[in-house]
Amino acid sequence: MTDAASSATKHPQRVFSGIQPTGNLTLGNYLGAIRNWVPLQEKFDCIYCVVDLHALTVWQEPATLRDATRQVAAALIACGIDADKHILFNQSQNPDHAELAWYFNCVARMGWLNRMTQFKEKAGKNKENASTGLFVYPNLMAADILAYRGTHVPVGEDQKQHLELARDIAIKFNNDWGVEDFFPVLEPLILGEATRVMSLRDGTKKMSKSDPSDMARINLTDDADTIAKKIRKAKTDPENLPTDKDGFKDRPEAQNLVTIYAALTNQTVETALREVGGGQFGAFKQQLADAAVAHLEPITTEMNRLLEDVAEIDRILAKGGERARALSAPILAEVRETVGLVR
Ligand code: TYM
Repeated sequence: MTDAASSATKHPQRVFSGIQPTGNLTLGNYLGAIRNWVPLQEKFDCIYCVVDLHALTVWQEPATLRDATRQVAAALIACGIDADKHILFNQSQNPDHAELAWYFNCVARMGWLNRMTQFKEKAGKNKENASTGLFVYPNLMAADILAYRGTHVPVGEDQKQHLELARDIAIKFNNDWGVEDFFPVLEPLILGEATRVMSLRDGTKKMSKSDPSDMARINLTDDADTIAKKIRKAKTDPENLPTDKDGFKDRPEAQNLVTIYAALTNQTVETALREVGGGQFGAFKQQLADAAVAHLEPITTEMNRLLEDVAEIDRILAKGGERARALSAPILAEVRETVGLVR
């Protein structure tokens, strides 16, 4: 872990990360992010946020959004997020995120946002019809983190560009108003073997909650049979598994499956290849399915148990929201003072 941000700032170290309540959580979300959030709780004060305002940048059925927010909260607790020691809440419980995002809308430049690859991917060909919220989405992300002066942000590889933009916003804010180290220049933490889990149907595409094919992803809610079936049907190539990493050249599907296996069995890709390299996909897929089921089954069971008491989840989120507001309130007061608002 690098400590560049924390060593250059007077502010205390604080972890912030977020996850959207859209569709089912996938193995990509789990291996790329959530799993890394858990051990960080031992070293840092952590704030984990279900970003429902971000979800609204594309159309959401209200009842579906509400359910998904509770599901994601339950999944995070089931994975080991401690909502008593740390803060777990949904974004809309703290209006400071949206207010700070407005100031950042006035700091970030059109050119910066125009370069965001995720906007281009999500807006697709019909850019004119994308919501303006989708365009300024990274400003809200910066606000999520900086409303608490977050210093470390654990994410998967796909969020790196957004976090670079958040750093640029922090630097420009500090410079424009002449307030050195007002916001810390946050540090992305991209951890583990599986920082970019790919689709099971196409090893060149990211595994995503929004992929139209459910066979492309493993959901945290899939049962053992579904997981085994999806892995059995996962795209591969006719060769045996390679024996070293160089053998992954032009074999994205093989690389993806071995990377997932390595992450699930807590080893590096190199050591995983020592175990499974040279073998046939058929036997390996069975091994991979067993590892995935062993890992995910306890999480799914616990998640379903927690979802039996929705009122308790809402209580946890409300309490988290209250604690989050108490942390951001003095920071937002300083921001208003700094930019010249009369209150
Ligand atoms: P979201 O909801 O798309 O994903 C949540 C986390 O999961 C990671 N992830 C993956 N990692 C590896 N392989 C994959 N296939 C994969 N798919 C998703 C993401 O990198 C992310 O860490 N904009 C963010 C949410 C957000 C946020 C924030 C994150 C809002 N505000 C502030 C950090 C800090 C997003 O849409 O993540």
